[in-house]
Amino acid sequence: MSSGPAFLRDLDVLIRARYPLVYLVSWEEQRLDAILADLAKSHGRTLFEWSVTRGLRQLSGGRSVPPLEDTQDPHKALEAVQKLSGDPSLVVLKDFHPYFESPKVVRALRDLAHYLKSTFTTVIILSPTLTIPVELEKELTVLDVPLPTFGELAQLLKDIVGVIRRNNKATIELSRTDAEALVKAAMGLTLSEAENAFAKAIVTDGKLSAEDIQRVQDEKRQIIRKSGLLEFYPAEERLENVGGLDGLKTWLSRRTAAFGEEARRFGLPEPRGILLLGVQGCGKSLTAKAIAAQWRLPLLRLDVGRIFSGLIGSSEENLRRAIRVAESVAPAVLWIDELEKGLAGAGGTGLQDAGVTQRIFGAMLTWLQEKTAPVFVVATANRIDLLPPELLRKGRFDEIFFVDLPTAHEREDIFAIHLARRGRDPKRFDIPALASASEGFSGSEIEQAIISALHDAFAEKVELDQRHILGALRETFPLSTTMGHEIQRLREWAKDRTRMASTRTAEVQT
Ligand SMILES: Nc1ncnc2c1ncn2[C@@H]1O[C@H](COP(=O)(O)OP(=O)(O)O)[C@@H](O)[C@H]1O
Ligand SMILES: [Mg+2]
Repeated sequence: MSSGPAFLRDLDVLIRARYPLVYLVSWEEQRLDAILADLAKSHGRTLFEWSVTRGLRQLSGGRSVPPLEDTQDPHKALEAVQKLSGDPSLVVLKDFHPYFESPKVVRALRDLAHYLKSTFTTVIILSPTLTIPVELEKELTVLDVPLPTFGELAQLLKDIVGVIRRNNKATIELSRTDAEALVKAAMGLTLSEAENAFAKAIVTDGKLSAEDIQRVQDEKRQIIRKSGLLEFYPAEERLENVGGLDGLKTWLSRRTAAFGEEARRFGLPEPRGILLLGVQGCGKSLTAKAIAAQWRLPLLRLDVGRIFSGLIGSSEENLRRAIRVAESVAPAVLWIDELEKGLAGAGGTGLQDAGVTQRIFGAMLTWLQEKTAPVFVVATANRIDLLPPELLRKGRFDEIFFVDLPTAHEREDIFAIHLARRGRDPKRFDIPALASASEGFSGSEIEQAIISALHDAFAEKVELDQRHILGALRETFPLSTTMGHEIQRLREWAKDRTRMASTRTAEVQT
């Protein structure tokens, strides 16, 4: 079984370099069992496993060691490991992290680490969460286990198909392309989740066929949503439905093929991401959604508010998982909406201390900077005062765009788009007159005015016309009238630091 070549290579190097303690973060025990068994074999090491229920036992390799009595106790287990370490071994400690609470265990692990440096034994701590006592920070090397690769999932599918063929319980109607699409649909799942998804797809209609691609995709959606942070978002918006923002749209259009093989051969790096900063209701979220459709990539929405809320388990673990999922379905667009929301909770909510928030945010920044998987990040933000300056530093995003209130010309676009969306021919309306009657309106406020006008027309039992819309516009107090000052400040700030999403911004005034 091959599993994320980079990860395996790293682990291999650590073992060869005689690192005494390695911490593997994964909730895929079964998959890791197989990987570690292979690894022990290829390094000619005896494989031991410890769990609190069964104590320390030999699983494979080496000369047979008599049963190790009385090693359920973690401290006793560590003593036993030291005694055994004369023989080159790989010792896997499962769910050992709760015992980091005990100073005695932590001390014993430190001593063991020093001792093991001169042996050919490596202790691997395997746990779904990462908790390291400070005393051990220097002794432990942490490796994140990536989700299964395409190759691993393809092997799983092959094994399942083999079993079905032998048992004759179901039929298989899969072309090679279908099989590949099916494997791709499962990417982002753990091995056992994928196994369940395939099994469910087979049971539904007694066969494995092209129809199951959709089933597996749906199953993945469900599983990923349950994690609480990430959501597959339907990429239904089109870039044509975004009015104005010509500069931003051109930038995006130029990169439509940037994730393809041809772009790589041409020597282009994959785009990393953009930050859309600006006035509320002017199309930032809309654009984020449209990018995925334009580029034909899956769209994943990351709920920052919930990362920091501390409501769903360990925040750091959740972020790690979200990142791993995003990377495993790459190329993909990862949409982080209203980035500042999560940060605003830093001190205020009292659910998480500021230290945790900062650590998680730091982890996110590091990932933004160092990520190698083609995950295009689209972050949006309505305020700058809450954003940490590190975020705006070069290297995190390809570009920071400022999205301002639409100009008169852009408002015309927006009116036309939303009238057409609701089945009305824009040509029947005096669009320039509507645009001049909506000075200072955001795209969202224009949309709301059209909806309100539609209600009025519907109540009057007549077709929508100009006067309904003009009436609705008159009754609206756009946010820019009450927030003029804030918007002005945002604009000032953005002037030298960002790129204008609209090349016509100069025409705007509030
Ligand atoms: N430039 C625009 N073109 C077309 N529709 C817009 C535009 N800006 C806003 N809207 C409408 O208003 C809605 C809310 O806008 P949104 O993108 O969520 O604003 P933001 O994220 O900037 O606060 C959109 O879904 C869309 O219907
Ligand atoms: Mg938004």
